[in-house]
Amino acid sequence: MTTLPQHPPEGTGPVRPSAAVARAARVLAAAGVGSARVEAELLTAYVLGVPRGRLALADDLTTGQVARLDGLIRRRAAREPLQHLTGRAGFRHLELSVGPGVFVPRPETELLAGWGVEQARGRLDPVVVDLCSGSGAIALAVAQELPGARVIAVERSPEALAWLRRNAAERAGAGDRPIEVVEADVTAPDLLAELVGSVDVLLCNPPYVPDDVVVPPEVAGHDPAEAVFGGADGLAVIRPVVTRAAALLRPGGVVGVEHDDTHGAAVPGLLAEDGGFSTVTEHLDLTGRPRYATASRRADGQHAPIGVAWQTDSS
Ligand SMILES: C[S@@+](CC[C@H](N)C(=O)[O-])C[C@H]1O[C@@H](n2cnc3c(N)ncnc32)[C@H](O)[C@@H]1O
Repeated sequence: MTTLPQHPPEGTGPVRPSAAVARAARVLAAAGVGSARVEAELLTAYVLGVPRGRLALADDLTTGQVARLDGLIRRRAAREPLQHLTGRAGFRHLELSVGPGVFVPRPETELLAGWGVEQARGRLDPVVVDLCSGSGAIALAVAQELPGARVIAVERSPEALAWLRRNAAERAGAGDRPIEVVEADVTAPDLLAELVGSVDVLLCNPPYVPDDVVVPPEVAGHDPAEAVFGGADGLAVIRPVVTRAAALLRPGGVVGVEHDDTHGAAVPGLLAEDGGFSTVTEHLDLTGRPRYATASRRADGQHAPIGVAWQTDSS
């Protein structure tokens, strides 16, 4: 258990936000939390009920707020994710509800979602499918940014589905076009049978970490295992998703799949070998790591006997 240094004088009286942040940052850094200062500011701002950018102007923390912050710092030092402590996660222009039982959406997935938005933009009444939807981050971002899109989110986990439905209801209440939530296994050969040949954009952030990889404590202890691990080689969900994408997409429709950074050749390779796609591209993230692969369904809707070459897009 983390022992917190006492505030002078001995835990009583108001504490300046700057002092609370400095102390929290020390404790979090000692516990091995990356970005300790930023997280200390976020937690202090959360307890004070102000945006992080207004901390310098905030009132001192009361004794009760200091005690509450101490509790949160202890939990964060024990490597509970920050988003579980605040109950919220930012994703593109959204704030989503998250907690135990659902994968916390990651900033890198905003790239795939943004690519999907740009691909769907300009298509007439586009049909967009988000496989492995989790909290609904990708599906709800598309629905918010493209009011004309019909968006279908597919998820299997009952715990994740509860969060997904909650976020979907919240966004619909805020005025976004409601998304359709489907409870299904994305590896099922008959997935979304009624949509065969009619999907414009199919997006998927599947579980993709190979089973034997050791992940950070926040992930191991708090992200559901079925959201993270993708079988011995990490491709157990991606393989059937690639096959099903070719069936679901309309001619000229597009698919984007996020993957492990060790799969920068394997995933575009699967898309290229399928025979159903004409253009296959691997995309790098802002740090230059392979992050997601995309492909266009052949314009004739057929499957070629041999695959195509794929390319890398580093822009
Ligand atoms: C990496 S998380 C992605 C969640 C969300 N799309 C995001 O980007 O934050 C993968 C999600 O896939 C779900 N999942 C795993 N295997 C599945 C399957 N066979 N069918 C449907 N959903 C699955 C997990 O429950 C989890 O919510």
